[in-house]
Amino acid sequence: MEASQVLTCAGGAGARRGEAMSRIGLVEEGAVAIFDGLVEAVGPRDELRARFPDAERVELSGHVVTPGLVDSHTHAVFGCWRLDEYELRCAGVPYMEIARQGGGINASVGDLRERSEEELVELGRARLRRMLEHGTTTVEVKSGYGLTLDDELKMLRVIRELAREDWIDVVPTFLGAHAFPPEYRDRRPDYVELVAEKMIPAVAESGLATFCDVFMEPGAYTPEETRRVMEAALEHGLIPRLHADEFESSGGAELAAAFGAASADHLGAISEAGVAALAVSDTVATLLPGTLFFLGKTYYPPARKLIDGGAAVALATDFNPGSSPTVNLQIVMSLSCSQLGMSPAEVFVAATANGAAALRFSDGRGSLEPGTPADIAAFRVPDYRLVPYLYGTNHCAAVWKGGVRVH
Ligand code: NIG
Ligand code: FE
Repeated sequence: MEASQVLTCAGGAGARRGEAMSRIGLVEEGAVAIFDGLVEAVGPRDELRARFPDAERVELSGHVVTPGLVDSHTHAVFGCWRLDEYELRCAGVPYMEIARQGGGINASVGDLRERSEEELVELGRARLRRMLEHGTTTVEVKSGYGLTLDDELKMLRVIRELAREDWIDVVPTFLGAHAFPPEYRDRRPDYVELVAEKMIPAVAESGLATFCDVFMEPGAYTPEETRRVMEAALEHGLIPRLHADEFESSGGAELAAAFGAASADHLGAISEAGVAALAVSDTVATLLPGTLFFLGKTYYPPARKLIDGGAAVALATDFNPGSSPTVNLQIVMSLSCSQLGMSPAEVFVAATANGAAALRFSDGRGSLEPGTPADIAAFRVPDYRLVPYLYGTNHCAAVWKGGVRVH
């Protein structure tokens, strides 16, 4: 395919840090050659025409071609939206206060438990389809609205069903420690034991999850409870990742780094010590500014300190019915430029190669280099900077998954 600009985001497997986060591998009047589902070559159009004179051509002048976006943090399986809660929040009631009153995550828990797997698959598939239309070709999806062993397994089976689609790759995460379900409200230690002793072994045994996440936050899981769950996860071969320091700092980033978690996510209130811990760790700092925006917060994670300090930064939507109902990573990229001080180049690397690193992919997805999967998004703009700049609309015109046009 031939485009006005090709961004390769090349740099081998693994996360990009510091200066490397600005290296987007821009090729003006570029082309990507695809063979057998993989990228065969990337370079100037004229060069590739000479090298592959007989190749079928896809003409994308006026477009920017990039690696398919990797959305490494979503809660895309749920029942209905939470509109009453939205009205309350618009009237000034904080997110964590609504949770304290039994709403929030537990509203989605009550709803999900009532629904059949088939229904949840249908709802989830339609949402993943909308993600694809916005350029996302790999997505992580968490459980965490079941909060009983059976309902968590049900959610994970729904996620596995979605993972059968060939137009998107789905990475499953177990999030039994998302909230405390109403029936355990007054006996939290029992629920933590249930997660650690029963749910994690059963989930690991089922093979339905790769990662294990915890919502560590004052008002949700304490550091001690989180540690207990992460230890059980490691013991059973699930890779930890963490909702950390979203609204208040409670040492989440430090704990994630200490456990060798794949990522520490949110970080709206990360401490200096947390920044320092992530800077010297392999734990990816995944920023979700869409959530803080939607919840009306006026602070954002210190992306500059993280990047300049040497941490690997990824961006994701956090797509969920409570705190971030957007499937659009492009808007998250705009927010990251305007509010977090990231450059247009950095936000592309964060939403592609570093998203893939946060999900521990080693097949090179998130970049376009010889041998990487031909997961490609084409944006209807002639300059990549226009994607975050012209914010609020979907610029994605076409998507290829493994070399096959899927949108
Ligand atoms: O990442 N913070 C915890 N979990 C989600 C919100 C889930 C919900 O409100 O349903 C988040 O923001
Ligand atoms: Fe989340």
